[in-house]
Amino acid sequence: MLILGIESSCDETAASVVQDGRRVLSNIVASQAALHEEYAGVVPEIASRAHVERILPVVREALAQAGAGLGMIDAVAVGHRPGLIGSLLVGVTAAKALAWSLGKPLIGVDHVHAHLYSGVLRGQEDLGDVPFPALGLVVSGGHTSLYRLESWTRLVRLGATIDDALGEAFDKAATLLGLPYPGGPNLDRLAEQDGADDRMTELPISRIAPGSLDFSFSGLKTAMLYAVRGVPGPKGRAAPPLTEARRRDLAASFRRAAVRAVMLKLERAAEVHAYRGVCTGGGVTANALLRRELNAFGASRAVPVFLPRLEFCMDNAAMIAGLGSELIRDCGASDLSLRADPSSIV
Ligand code: KG4
Ligand code: ZN
Repeated sequence: MLILGIESSCDETAASVVQDGRRVLSNIVASQAALHEEYAGVVPEIASRAHVERILPVVREALAQAGAGLGMIDAVAVGHRPGLIGSLLVGVTAAKALAWSLGKPLIGVDHVHAHLYSGVLRGQEDLGDVPFPALGLVVSGGHTSLYRLESWTRLVRLGATIDDALGEAFDKAATLLGLPYPGGPNLDRLAEQDGADDRMTELPISRIAPGSLDFSFSGLKTAMLYAVRGVPGPKGRAAPPLTEARRRDLAASFRRAAVRAVMLKLERAAEVHAYRGVCTGGGVTANALLRRELNAFGASRAVPVFLPRLEFCMDNAAMIAGLGSELIRDCGASDLSLRADPSSIV
């Protein structure tokens, strides 16, 4: 079965052709990062316009690279929630038009749910199946959540961030350090440099209440602000100059605290929920330290941890097409009344 996936929920216009739910024949992503750089964040109106301009060339390119004509496509899957409403509308409208004109089923896919699937996408190699029940972790620019999955289509959310998402916190910390947008990957690279001291500044690792599986990154963000700019107020103190070495050490200290906070919650979830594997996804799964920690988590407990290949960490349409194949089998197709929806149901 060949599924064409379309993704336009935020600032990437993406299309992909996936065979039998796993094998990615093409994965085209047109990033808008350069358009939003001067605003240090995504501007919704600019994003929607860029999606309109790019969606058809991106779909054409995905079909061409897969060596598939439109007539060979069995279904069209689209990320229809959550995201920026104007951005979502472009992908949903394109997917509906294609599905209707081809007479093929349309499948609405939740973007956050699809991130969980990204760890099983492959090129040629066979990764095997996720053994359920599994724990799920999504860490992206907009979401940070833990799940328990009974199957690809039956899942419950165990916890989520009560303030910033992990990627958002990384991006803000990077801006404080004067790193270019999007900051997460740049901060990660800096923290990886030889000699970076991740204990230079003890930043808070949030735990919230005992037993809670929710996340919070606002305290860490404020601590980073004070470490960079000094503590304000009568009892405040000035910060040392931001030398190259201090910038590198602060990046490493921030990354260590942020990653530990995530791992603590995963470890806590693993203590109270039965699981036989871990599915992970979202832009921050590209983080070098988080990947090492997740691999170590799996190795020490002898469970498989499905980490996305780097090209499937960030927003992409292959995860939409891949999960689409599970959804159509378990839940059937959507119909043309499918709506773009800014909120997630998972
Ligand atoms: O999943 P994604 O592409 O978009 C959303 O659905 O939100 O995630 C983008 C986020 C951005 O905040 C970006 O800075 C972060 O993922 N990110 C990273 C790294 N690579 C991407 N954060 C930390 N370390 C990285 N290596
Ligand atoms: Zn995403």
